[in-house]
Amino acid sequence: MARFVLKDPFYKKAKDEGFRARSAYKLKDIDAKFHLVKKGHVVLDLGCSPGSFLQVLSDMVGEAGVVVGIDILPTPALPRKNVKTVTADIRDVDIVKLFGDLGLESADTVTCDIAPNLSGIREVDDARIEELFHSVLDIVAGALKPGGNFIIKSFSTTVQKKVAALLQQKFSKVSQYKPAASRAVSSEIFFICTGKK
Ligand SMILES: C[S@@+](CC[C@H](N)C(=O)[O-])C[C@H]1O[C@@H](n2cnc3c(N)ncnc32)[C@H](O)[C@@H]1O
Repeated sequence: MARFVLKDPFYKKAKDEGFRARSAYKLKDIDAKFHLVKKGHVVLDLGCSPGSFLQVLSDMVGEAGVVVGIDILPTPALPRKNVKTVTADIRDVDIVKLFGDLGLESADTVTCDIAPNLSGIREVDDARIEELFHSVLDIVAGALKPGGNFIIKSFSTTVQKKVAALLQQKFSKVSQYKPAASRAVSSEIFFICTGKK
């Protein structure tokens, strides 16, 4: 395992460039292709710890923008004025209240890199993934502005078709993308959804 990690070029790059996780390069890659996040935007990042998406998003939105991160685990403090983090299970979050408390109206983009705890038992895990996905969609419904964008990580499971179908109902365009930093052995892909209906 250690040998695999040491050989991983994105792991080394993240260490060298001061990113908290190699996932930073997944988001950079997605943005280079889809150009969704702009200066001054408000972005909500679900499953934000340890914070590499937050680091990338903070640079993308600049001083005039805001990035709000939520994770069930604490996120080590980031010395960035435009980043706010909350420790909470997204299934328990009242997002409209949270945005109100932060003085925000809505998000231009929501990103979700959540990886649920999996048991290895297919039926149990599929049910967990589906439950979490519905909580994420509730948050998107409450926080994302009409016309806004949504980037969500997904895995090849039996629920993936359902996930794609629901996203297609709710967004004008839904693309699937596997960033270069996403390990080839992983079934991970990202849904890039634009134009919330
Ligand atoms: C792959 S990590 C995210 C990495 C992050 N995007 C970054 O770039 O640093 C997935 C995160 O999802 C979080 N997570 C899992 N279930 C969650 C839940 N129900 N509510 C909030 N966060 C959750 C985990 O605690 C974990 O930190």
